[in-house]
Order: sequence, then C-alpha cells, then structure tokens
Amino acid sequence: SPYRLVELESIDSTNAEAKRLAEQGAPDCTVVWAKRQTAGRGRRGRTWVSEDGNLYFSILLRMPYPMEVMSQLSFVAANAVADAVQVAATRGAFVNVKWPNDVLLEGQKVAGILLEGEPDLKTGAFKWLVLGIGVNIASHPALEEGAYPPTSLAAQGVEGEGLDVTLMLDTLTKRFLAGLATWRNLGFGPIRRHWLARAKGLGGPVTVRLPNEQVQGVFGALDEKGALVLHLDGQPNRLITAGDVFIP
Ligand code: BTN
Repeated sequence: SPYRLVELESIDSTNAEAKRLAEQGAPDCTVVWAKRQTAGRGRRGRTWVSEDGNLYFSILLRMPYPMEVMSQLSFVAANAVADAVQVAATRGAFVNVKWPNDVLLEGQKVAGILLEGEPDLKTGAFKWLVLGIGVNIASHPALEEGAYPPTSLAAQGVEGEGLDVTLMLDTLTKRFLAGLATWRNLGFGPIRRHWLARAKGLGGPVTVRLPNEQVQGVFGALDEKGALVLHLDGQPNRLITAGDVFIP
C-alpha cells in the first residue's frame, strides 16, 4: 500500500490526531481513519457531525510544500473525492463540485474537506499539512439554517458496495495520491481543468458570504491560485480566497 493506515474506533478529530502524530514524527502519507469523531471539525470553525457509518479520515503530508500551494492541494482533494463519489454512486448520478472544495451529489453536499497546515516562518514552507476528508455515506446531518443542504450516498439510493466505507477510503486515498503526483509533475493546470469541468455555477450568479459582508456577482473563473474570480457590475473583478458560496 502506498500509505500507512492508523485505524481508530473513536477520536476527537482525525485532523487533530494527524497533527499530534506529525509532531511525534509520523511519516509522509500517514492516513488516520476513525469510525466516529467526538469533536469533528468543519471549515470556518464549524462542527462536523460524525456518527458511525460515514467516512472520516486525514492524510498527513510532510513534503516541504510552499505556503501558497495549500489551496491548490484542496482542489486536488476535491477532484479525488468527486471521482470516488461518482464511482460509488449509482450509474448516472450527478456529481459536481462547489467552490472552494465541497462535493455535491444531486446538488447537495455529500462531502467536505478541511486542509490545515503548520507553517515554518523561517522557510516559508509548511512543516506538514493535514488533509481531512469527511464523506456522508450512511447518514447526513439535519439541514441547518445558513448551511448548504446535506445528503449522503444512502439517502441518494446508493446500495451494496457503494456504501462500503473501507472501499471508499482506499479508492479516495489512491486517487488523491495519483492527483498529487499529477500536480507535482504538471502543476495546477490539469487539476484546475478537471475541477472546472464539473464546477457548479460557473458563469452564473453567486452570492459569497464573507465574515463582514455579502457580495453578489458572476462566478467568472478559478484563478491560477484557486481563488474564485467574481465579476461585479461596473467594478473591477474581485478575487475571493475564503468565504461561503451560495449558488441558486
Ligand atoms: C467542511 O466544513 O466542509 C469540511 C469538513 C471536513 C470534515 C473532515 S472529517 C475528517 C477530518 N477530521 C475533522 O475533524 N474534519 C475533517
């Protein structure tokens, strides 16, 4: 196997555990997988509900990645998740991606990605990165005010092998590592094209919720760093690097 698997029944958060292992010197491509999490973390300080039956795991990356590549890597991850969900889901299932790195099944959020890093200010590179992925397989949390509507593979009628958590873990990890090799060899271009090919709302109106404001514009492009290029009426384009995007 191209990765080392640490298997746990229950943990606070696989991202937190992967960071602890990183500090203890765990090698590159250590994968931390837990059946459930007691303090699963989402983006922007949110909680990730983590009951039995879904997939929760984190990949520790120890290469000295420069700091500006973090967002590019999250697109490598989103592509891998979208590919793995497409393989697991029923034939003809509609899978797309939503900026920055959500994966949607039939228009609802089926997976989330949380990439965290420990920067080394002396070198300008990360000491390590932890890529956390959650895929709703058997269940999904209730719809919450202000959040994107969630779904799961089971809720979309997926059956049998498609609901196998360990199979999803293995498929996804291998696809991510393959995408990582593509990105290292060929750069962000092919990753960006693959992501854009199934990006929700490209060319259409979007609302971006930022900490202190909400902006509306047209989702024009994904730039070479992974930022969302927002076209605004009669104003220069705006580059969005963080925020929640809502697409009608
Ligand atoms: C999001 O908000 O969309 C990102 C959710 C990321 C959840 C995964 S589950 C495994 C890993 N461990 C965590 O605590 N979070 C990530």
